[in-house]
Amino acid sequence: MYNTTASLRTAFLEFFASKQHQIVASSSLVPGNDPTLLFTNAGMVPFKDVFLGAEQRPYTRATSAQRCVRAGGKHNDLENVGYTARHHTFFEMLGNFSFGDYFKQDAIQYAWEFLTNVLGLPKEKLLVTVYETDDEAFDIWNKVIGVPAEKIIRIGDKSSDKKFESDNFWSMGDTGPCGPCSEIFYDHGEHIWGGPPGSPEEDGDRFIEIWNIVFMQFNRSANGNMDKLPKPSVDTGMGIERIAAILQGVHSNYEIDIFQTLIKATADLLNVTDLENKSLRVIADHIRSCSFMIVDGVMPSNEGRGYVLRRIIRRAVRHGHQLGGKGLFFNKLVATLVSLMGEAYPELAQKQAVVEKMLKIEEEQFAKTLERGLAMLESQLADLSSTEIPGSVVFSLYDTYGFPADLTADIAREKNLTIDEAGFEAHMLEQRKKSQAASSFKADYNDQLTTTHQSEFTGYLNDASTAAVLQLFSNGESVAELTDGEQGIVILDSTPFYAESGGQSGDKGEIEVAGGTFVVADTQS
Ligand code: ALA
Repeated sequence: MYNTTASLRTAFLEFFASKQHQIVASSSLVPGNDPTLLFTNAGMVPFKDVFLGAEQRPYTRATSAQRCVRAGGKHNDLENVGYTARHHTFFEMLGNFSFGDYFKQDAIQYAWEFLTNVLGLPKEKLLVTVYETDDEAFDIWNKVIGVPAEKIIRIGDKSSDKKFESDNFWSMGDTGPCGPCSEIFYDHGEHIWGGPPGSPEEDGDRFIEIWNIVFMQFNRSANGNMDKLPKPSVDTGMGIERIAAILQGVHSNYEIDIFQTLIKATADLLNVTDLENKSLRVIADHIRSCSFMIVDGVMPSNEGRGYVLRRIIRRAVRHGHQLGGKGLFFNKLVATLVSLMGEAYPELAQKQAVVEKMLKIEEEQFAKTLERGLAMLESQLADLSSTEIPGSVVFSLYDTYGFPADLTADIAREKNLTIDEAGFEAHMLEQRKKSQAASSFKADYNDQLTTTHQSEFTGYLNDASTAAVLQLFSNGESVAELTDGEQGIVILDSTPFYAESGGQSGDKGEIEVAGGTFVVADTQS
């Protein structure tokens, strides 16, 4: 039973619907309500304001399968992708939420019932953690559920010496709702290295955290204060890939149906026969985050979310090259992804063509400099006298060949080397200073255009809308049309795009017209 990820997703949502939870569709990866967050990194993000009491909904119980990205900010798993059985840049979080409705006991009972009754996991394979001082949660696990005391581990805050990475106090970021949590772990068996949570071997892959139940009680503000939430609430999260691995009888997430299909598709495109190759796993991971980011309106760029996207695309392209791939391949995986996830996420299927086009442009662009950059790196490595790649080399790779620093770090790691991050940052700072000085001389392209038209700004209410084209420019001249592949400037009668001002850069996005899609690279007033 539940031997596909899709059937598991449905089972979870239906179980919580049967417990009077409202099924809520996944939100965008770009959090609409939270400028403090780069990406939606947990199922609770779309409900942040509901926990805080700032937003009312017609329900007090909800459940969702939320698409998440952890590739930047507080929760960042990018570096671990390909190296562990369980880390991803993109994953789906199954969750159930109580907004001042039920609290610890029901939350724990629901989780246990779902895992042991519905999914039929053997109880003896499960162990749990509670926050070190949370006797109430300990007693519920022990006395109500019947988990033996030796299988309930008390965990405190992350130790300052970083000896233990585990932490049973969950927060979405530096600010926002937070609280003590209780986690459920699955023991994959003695044949896999690793120790229980809280032990020095906890980073191994034997004991895998499958479900986190957060007892939301506080709002952490920027000055560090912890204010009580209006009502104690519950936020839970279970990574679908991890639980799917258990149900499909495999240890690594990369062996589940979705990843195996993506890995095979990649291997076919690149003529690779060794399906265990790490680079195949990295690519299978990256196609999911990159595609969904584009679906949610992120465009490759050199800053913010767009730079996270660009970095991940370039990493994927480099891994394809590593596997011997010569041509474009990454954009060709979108069709396979749509066949796997398009039903659960119709927005992915709808935007397939845009995603393919955007990835293709990025791939083409990076392919031009990748080989030369790698050759330059190889020649530098030949002369290297330490195990650290100097900041100046990391910077040249970035500046001349478009290698994001983490991509160079990824290559370095494969060769048991590290990069001089501080040295790289110092070069970046220097460059920023130079370009700031230069930009004050840059001609404002407003000076080159004359128009009598005005655009109405609609972006306070909408981030997408229909508009009429009033005027087009190409090379500073007013023109009647822009053709495929041509760059230009468009003036619309109304626009949700925010123009650069007050230190905030102009919006990027896309304009769909009858025959296709234009990429909006910048917005100026
Ligand atoms: N928000 C909690 C987590 O992400 C459930 O682990």
